[in-house]
Amino acid sequence: MDNYKQLGFKVMNNTMIINSDDIDKEGCFQKEEPIPFDFNNLFNSQNMFEEIHNYNSMAILGDCIEVLKQIKSNSVHLIFVDPPYNIGKDFGNNIDKWDTVEEYISWCKEWIDECVRILKDDGTIYLMTSTQHMPYLDVYISEKYNVLCRIVWIYDSSGVQSKKIFGSLYEPILMFNKSSKSKYTFNYEDILVEAKTGAKRKLIDYRKNPPQPYNTQKVPGNVWEFNRVRFRMEEYENHPTQKPEALLERIIKASSNEGDIVLDPFSGSFTTSAVATKLGRNAIGIDMNDEFFEMGIRRTGIATEYKGKALVKEKVRKTNAKSKYIREDK
Ligand SMILES: C[S@@+](CC[C@H](N)C(=O)[O-])C[C@H]1O[C@@H](n2cnc3c(N)ncnc32)[C@H](O)[C@@H]1O
Repeated sequence: MDNYKQLGFKVMNNTMIINSDDIDKEGCFQKEEPIPFDFNNLFNSQNMFEEIHNYNSMAILGDCIEVLKQIKSNSVHLIFVDPPYNIGKDFGNNIDKWDTVEEYISWCKEWIDECVRILKDDGTIYLMTSTQHMPYLDVYISEKYNVLCRIVWIYDSSGVQSKKIFGSLYEPILMFNKSSKSKYTFNYEDILVEAKTGAKRKLIDYRKNPPQPYNTQKVPGNVWEFNRVRFRMEEYENHPTQKPEALLERIIKASSNEGDIVLDPFSGSFTTSAVATKLGRNAIGIDMNDEFFEMGIRRTGIATEYKGKALVKEKVRKTNAKSKYIREDK
């Protein structure tokens, strides 16, 4: 009984929802209390950053390079990295623009090496950046580590369309691990998608002996189509480059297991942590902007107020989100 605690009833539309697993032998409503993850044990030190955590999510306010340096080596299962793309987005207190491409790439190399150091030997990293900068990082990572897959996230745009060049409607994602000898998690059965060809037309595959109907599901390829996050969507947050939950869901389901640690050094609106915790993983999210840090505290359910301030979701349209290279919808 040590791990059990009495909770209140959940009442929705005058209906009381009680899961039979939550009733104990005496007929009382009981709920298993989650075992808190020991986040502090992941760190060698905790200087120069602010943090708050609950049983499965830690939000950190600070420069991710300083934070990553203090995390123990070989300790995290999955890292999703969505850094500033060096295209001039406005992140409030930090500007997404470096003087030269060389300076941007050398800054990226610093946190890439730290991410690999803290990654478990069988862990995986997914890295995003702009189309024009990915080739530099791909070369660096291919030579030093092990590229598993080159993915493109494609989306449609109903907004402003370029009349001078072909519009930019994809973003590259590099999936890599420590070395070609490293084992890694790939839960392909958890990410199956509908097979649209033969199965849809109820065809029989006569190449098989005996002939069989075509599979109705398949493992996705490396071209991923997910809508970008729009104002009317439930998941929308006031962040200029928020990534869709569906994208993170595929990554987290494929490359981690329940109870694993998922880390995002550039969390923004904390999409990674929000999805990871929903999927039973433990999440660490870092951002250097205090508004995004507070967004993360709220979005991942760590607290509803911080330092006396109520954390409430207020939706504002991303009118200032345009950059020189990538156009956002109006
Ligand atoms: C591309 S956005 C991430 C968006 C995020 N994936 C989401 O779904 O909302 C990059 C984020 O990195 C943050 N950032 C920039 N430099 C940073 C640094 N050195 N350390 C931590 N966060 C940083 C910015 O404040 C911004 O929110």
